[in-house]
Amino acid sequence: MTTEPARETPETLRAAMVAALREDGTIRTARIAKTMGRVPREPFVPGAQIADVYDPERAVVTKRDKDGLAISSVSAARIQAFMLEQADPRPGENVLEIGSGGMFAAYLAELVAPDGAVTTVDIDPEVTSRARRLLDDAGYEHVRVVTADGAFGVPEHAPFDLVVVTVGAPDIPPAWTRQLLPDGRIVVPLRVRGLTRSVALVRAGDHLVSTGYELCGFVPMQGAAENREHLVLLHDEPGEEVGLRLDDGDQVDVAALRAALAMPHQAVWSGVTVGGEEPIDDLDLWLATALDGHTRLTATPAARAKGIVASASPLGVATVVVGGTLAYRTVRPADETRTRFELGAYGHGPAAGAAAGRLVHEIRVWDQEHRGGPGAQFEVHPAGTPDDRLPAGRVVDKTHTRITISWPGKS
Ligand SMILES: C[S@@+](CC[C@H](N)C(=O)[O-])C[C@H]1O[C@@H](n2cnc3c(N)ncnc32)[C@H](O)[C@@H]1O
Repeated sequence: MTTEPARETPETLRAAMVAALREDGTIRTARIAKTMGRVPREPFVPGAQIADVYDPERAVVTKRDKDGLAISSVSAARIQAFMLEQADPRPGENVLEIGSGGMFAAYLAELVAPDGAVTTVDIDPEVTSRARRLLDDAGYEHVRVVTADGAFGVPEHAPFDLVVVTVGAPDIPPAWTRQLLPDGRIVVPLRVRGLTRSVALVRAGDHLVSTGYELCGFVPMQGAAENREHLVLLHDEPGEEVGLRLDDGDQVDVAALRAALAMPHQAVWSGVTVGGEEPIDDLDLWLATALDGHTRLTATPAARAKGIVASASPLGVATVVVGGTLAYRTVRPADETRTRFELGAYGHGPAAGAAAGRLVHEIRVWDQEHRGGPGAQFEVHPAGTPDDRLPAGRVVDKTHTRITISWPGKS
């Protein structure tokens, strides 16, 4: 006798989504499990496949620009879950969401109920009219939806206990800190030295101190705070492009680096190994902190197949640029089963060996001093804060802030 497979309903898919997010540790608190288990997602992504709506990893793009780049989406459930964990919205709080979709605002509204308030702001009137309609239809008429540039916060509804930014931010505009209560919190996908992390921050007077961070990717911010990375190509054969992603006014000698990439590489290996599935995003954050001249090398799979570079990633791999020389992080199998990989670096250019050696030195420092440790701590101080008031560590100067990244080390 054959049994029919159980039919998947929104309820069973929602329960499975929450179970998966609990099992891998993304959802840690009962309130957030209960909220994500109760609130239907499908009303906020009408027309999407129900399996996609409840796939924890899948964002549903709701708007693209003229070049096809996603500019608005309902974020993946995993991202929403860890941002809710980071934000910890509590009953009675006044919360601002920057970047609207409706779905995340509905979760926030549930978590601050019965007497809290949620305001969601988006720069795009098409997004806000859609969010308004979907929130009303789902019974969240009390969520305020505002059309404005979120870089300026929403002063008419401030002060906020919590600001959650759901769009990639290159900086923390002063309005966000100013509109927070004295012990208020911000959760923000912050891009620092080319890497984006969802950073949870608590206000401490005129500055913010991080309490944790998670790896994430978001559509870029538009409006007054817009500041996108730009790509310079070092190899531009169609389909085999290799480039550098430059952030925050980074300058490189493109002609010299194009010539360098055409030269044979020098490899330096670290002796440090990682498992094939092991996340190494904290290694990348360490390299971005420790290396002067840090940038990201991107390449297509075809460029790697052709041997132009040894690593291909659309987001880029950690790279150090010194004048007309560059060196990037790569791996090679550490055993015959190809389950472990040794980290190393390929250098190109006149000082290839030295640059690759510099990167490998920092891989070893990470392995010995930071691997499995507490990770980095971020602080965000107003621009103009003197150096002697900043904690030790890398200082990244932005338009409005001086962001510091410190590594307390393993105890
Ligand atoms: C990933 S979507 C938001 C997802 C949403 N929070 C959800 O429920 O999943 C990012 C949104 O940020 C918006 N955005 C971009 N720049 C902005 C700005 N300066 N102020 C407010 N919203 C902005 C975009 O229009 C887009 O709708």
